Amino acid sequence: MDSLIAAMEGLVEDIYGHVHRVSGVSISIGEILGLSPADLDRIATVGVLHDVGKLHVDTRLLSKPASLDVPEVELMQRHTLFGFAMTADLFEREVSEAILFHHERYDGSGYPHGRAGDEIPLLARIVAVADAYDAITSERAYQPALPADFAIEEIRNYSGTQFDPMIVEAFLDSVSDGSFETTQRLVLDLAAS
Ligand SMILES: [Fe+2]
Repeated sequence: MDSLIAAMEGLVEDIYGHVHRVSGVSISIGEILGLSPADLDRIATVGVLHDVGKLHVDTRLLSKPASLDVPEVELMQRHTLFGFAMTADLFEREVSEAILFHHERYDGSGYPHGRAGDEIPLLARIVAVADAYDAITSERAYQPALPADFAIEEIRNYSGTQFDPMIVEAFLDSVSDGSFETTQRLVLDLAAS
């Protein structure tokens, strides 16, 4: 797994920090939901590898500051399919399927297959919230970093459309009881050691 992460380094600015922060938020949501230790292990892996398929996407697209046109968006969206193909033989099915479905939306408007509600694997629904939070609060080629309060409000606003309300609830609980920050720090420290 370390070699896959190392390969992703340099693909997108701060990918190393991004994947471990997503992993940390995902674990803290999973703990609030009472996931088994095996599922917490799986969600940690999914958090780190959710975008591994971007290794097969043209790096010019990944760092493009302007918005992408339709063919470019289609190419970018294929990172979910590539990620599944790259991990299917290496990890349990729960892990590779969560990577495949991490851009599905609760209302069925996501990709790659437009799955809705509980048809989206639980681990994918968790990573979707954690990924959105980190994307909003991190500086990207196309946007400056926005405050945590704004990201939390956005996630609350999209509960029931983009995100599973049960996961949003668990995310908000992990923010208010502080476990969110503690777990994220632990994961980042572990990754750095
Ligand atoms: Fe992604």
